Amino acid sequence: MAAVTLKNLSKMYAKVAANDNINMKIEEGEFITLVGPSGCGKTTTLRMIAGLLSPSSGSIFFDDEDVTHTPTQNRGIGMVFQDYALFPHLNVWDNIGFGLKIQKYPKDQVKQRVRQGVEMVNLIGLEGRALSELSGGQRQRVALARALVMEPRVFLLDEPLSNLDAKLRLHMRTELKRIHKRIGVTTIYVTHDQVEAMTLSNRVIIMLDGKIQQKGTPKEVYEKPINRFVGGFMGSPPMNFLENCEIIRENDHLFLVVKGIRFSVPRHFYRAIERLNLSTVTTGIRPEDLSDRNDAVTSQYKSHMLDDTIEMTIDVIEPIGANKLLDLYHKDLRLSAIVKADSSVLPDQHINIKVNLERIHLFDPKTEESLAYFDKL
Ligand SMILES: Nc1ncnc2c1ncn2[C@@H]1O[C@H](COP(=O)(O)OP(=O)(O)OP(=O)(O)O)[C@@H](O)[C@H]1O
Ligand SMILES: [Mg+2]
Repeated sequence: MAAVTLKNLSKMYAKVAANDNINMKIEEGEFITLVGPSGCGKTTTLRMIAGLLSPSSGSIFFDDEDVTHTPTQNRGIGMVFQDYALFPHLNVWDNIGFGLKIQKYPKDQVKQRVRQGVEMVNLIGLEGRALSELSGGQRQRVALARALVMEPRVFLLDEPLSNLDAKLRLHMRTELKRIHKRIGVTTIYVTHDQVEAMTLSNRVIIMLDGKIQQKGTPKEVYEKPINRFVGGFMGSPPMNFLENCEIIRENDHLFLVVKGIRFSVPRHFYRAIERLNLSTVTTGIRPEDLSDRNDAVTSQYKSHMLDDTIEMTIDVIEPIGANKLLDLYHKDLRLSAIVKADSSVLPDQHINIKVNLERIHLFDPKTEESLAYFDKL
């Protein structure tokens, strides 16, 4: 196993910087996810780590060893890509052992490692089956085992679950976590699916346009997105954005006013707003931070100085398991909110919505950076 360090890594094509000065350190045994929209440079990063693509500049280290110019076969990596390129004419056993045979491992070692691989991904009893007789998830596991039996120092996965149906993806996610827990190999997983990123890994790295936007635990990037892009990208249903919120001062208090609705600015943003001399901000509110005022236990304690209630009209109600998703409007302002499934809400009803002020996000409208990081800027 190895730690992986990328230093100022860039890949320039004629028209685009697919990777633009990427820096990251993945600790030995860590499971990290690279996530971002299509074209942001995830595959490019992974292919450079694999040695399938040479960087335009920068370097790649496995522990202290500079592998930037080391050929793929000498890097000790295992790879599983989206089209996991198995051999349809070979059975499960021979597919898993293929790489070991090519590298001329002694027969008894091949046998022992393939056996371990079969056990690792739970394909016991299916060793003799042709690939065409397997389900998508089983084929997926063959691809994982084929890479794992090589005992890689670093395990690279590029959207390996994208060909599977929703239920199988969920199952394979758990399976991947279990395999990682058992063998603990340094794993870099690429996906454009933020839910997958949030659930799979200890740490996520969010990319956009070839650049890293934020690194952190799923909780950190969800609760404290560094900019508007990260706020909007991580989370489903997505964060609501209220553009052009005017900042109004009354006595010693700041309020946000947008399209006739008004609520208080939490104190911890005062300093950033004043220093940056902002007259408007973009507000981000997650749907779960808006609730039916009637459901709020604290309603009787409402302070007259704290404006945390907005009046909206319900347009559409969507049941989602234990909750309901409300599509709300006020003039041409639209918000989605999540309320409990037993909440007695009806379409066209006017409703008092409580904003969980402690959890709102404010972004500088010009730079789109979060004001929560003001002290660190
Ligand atoms: N061989 C190439 N020549 C020119 N441009 C390329 C080449 N390969 C990739 N690119 C560009 O580099 C950028 C990053 O591509 P990359 O494949 O890394 O994206 P990605 O994040 O993996 O996207 P996806 O989620 O769609 O797989 C894109 O703008 C892509 O068009
Ligand atoms: Mg890709």
